[in-house]
Amino acid sequence: MVTVNRNYLKLPGSYLFSTVARKVAEYQSANPGAEMIRLGIGDVTQPLAPAIIDSLHKAVDEMAGKETFRGYAPDLGYEFLRSTIAKNDYQDRGCGIGADEIFVSDGAKSDSGNIQEIFGLDNKVAVCDPVYPVYVDTNVMAGRTGAYNPEHDNFDGVIYMPCKEENGFLPELPKETPDLIYLCFPNNPSGAAITRDRLQEWVDYANKTGAVIIYDAAYEAYITEENVPHSIYECQGAENCAIELRSFSKNAGFTGVRLGFTVVPKALERDGVKLHTLWARRHGTKFNGAPYIVQRAGEAVYSAEGKAQLKEQISYYMRNAKVIYEGLKNAGYSVSGGVNAPYIWLKTTDGMSSWEFFDYLLDKAHVVGTPGSGFGAQGEGFFRLTAFGTYENTVEAIERMKKL
Ligand SMILES: Cc1ncc(COP(=O)(O)O)c(C=O)c1O
Repeated sequence: MVTVNRNYLKLPGSYLFSTVARKVAEYQSANPGAEMIRLGIGDVTQPLAPAIIDSLHKAVDEMAGKETFRGYAPDLGYEFLRSTIAKNDYQDRGCGIGADEIFVSDGAKSDSGNIQEIFGLDNKVAVCDPVYPVYVDTNVMAGRTGAYNPEHDNFDGVIYMPCKEENGFLPELPKETPDLIYLCFPNNPSGAAITRDRLQEWVDYANKTGAVIIYDAAYEAYITEENVPHSIYECQGAENCAIELRSFSKNAGFTGVRLGFTVVPKALERDGVKLHTLWARRHGTKFNGAPYIVQRAGEAVYSAEGKAQLKEQISYYMRNAKVIYEGLKNAGYSVSGGVNAPYIWLKTTDGMSSWEFFDYLLDKAHVVGTPGSGFGAQGEGFFRLTAFGTYENTVEAIERMKKL
C-alpha cells in the first residue's frame, strides 16, 4: 500500500501568500470598482535593466548558432559566472571565497528549502520569529520537527528566537543549543539589519558550539549603512561555520528570470565530512544547471553598466521605502525597517490583530499588505509593507493610510 510523507500533514492551512491572494480576489470581485494598491508580496515591479536585456538577447542569439549553441549547463554553474560572483561579491569585499565554493542555482527559495537535506534528521533547528516561512516548512516536511502547536502557533521541536521591538527585531543567542541556525539579514519580514559586530557574535557562537549558520543574504543589495555586512564571510571564522544563500531576484529583478547561488566554503566540516562535498553531490544529482541564457544575464549584473543601472533601480525602491517609513511615522504609526531593506514593519493600530488590520486596510484604503502573524507568532500585531511598488502607487497608498 502506498503511504504518503505524513510530515506534510503537520503543515496547517495554505501558504501565506495564497491566503492573501484569495482574500484580495474575493474582495475585488465583491467590490469591482476598488482601485487596489498591492504592497504585499515581495515581488519587484521595475523591468530588467538594459545591460541585462542586452546580455539576454546576445545569449539567445548564441543559441541559434551551431558553433555557439549550449546544451546542459554544468551542474554547479558556468565558470564565467562563478568567478565573477567570487570576485565581485566576495574577494572585492575582502572575503576569501573562491569560485569553486559557489553553487549556481535557480534561486534562493529552492536553496533555502533544499539545504537542510544534507543534514541529519536529528539536528535541532533554530529560526527567528517572525521568519521567512520556507526555512520552517521545509524542515517540517523533512521530519525534523514535532507537530504543529496551535496554542503557540508554532512547531514543537523547533527553537524559536523571538525578534521583538525592544531588541530592534534582532534575535538573542538561544538558551538551548541548536545545530542549524537560520539567519536572514537584512531581514524579511521585519526589514531589520544586523551590524558586523553583532553578526560576529553569532559566528563565534556557532564556532564554539559546532552549530552551522544558514545565512540568507537575499536583500544585501539594499544595505545603506557602513557597519552592516553584505556577507557573513565579512566576519572572522565564518568559513568554518556558515553557508550563505544569495538571490538575483531582489538586486536585479530576476524574480521571473530565476537565478541564485549558495556558498559552501571548503573549510566547513561537520561530523567528519566537508559540507561542500555533500552539497556538490546533492546539487549534481538533483539539479541540472541554471540556463546558459540566464547565467549570462547574471554575469551582466556585475558589468560596469549593469552595476550603475541596478544601483538606480535599488535607489528607486529605497525612495519608496522612505516614503512609506517617513509617511507612516509622521502619521503616528510605529514603524521600523526600510533603511537597509525594502520592507517596512509596522505595528497595527488600535490593538488590531495582523489579519484584522489586513482586512481593515483592504476595506478602508484598498491597500494590500502582509499580516505579520503569517511569519510567526511574534509577528502578531505587526504588518509588512514592501517598497517594491511603483513610486506613484506607493505615494498614493501612504496618502490613503494617512487619512484613516
Ligand atoms: C528571505 C528570502 N529568501 C529567499 C527568497 C527567495 O528568493 P528567490 O526569488 O531567489 O527564490 C525570498 C523571496 O522573497 C526571501 O524573502
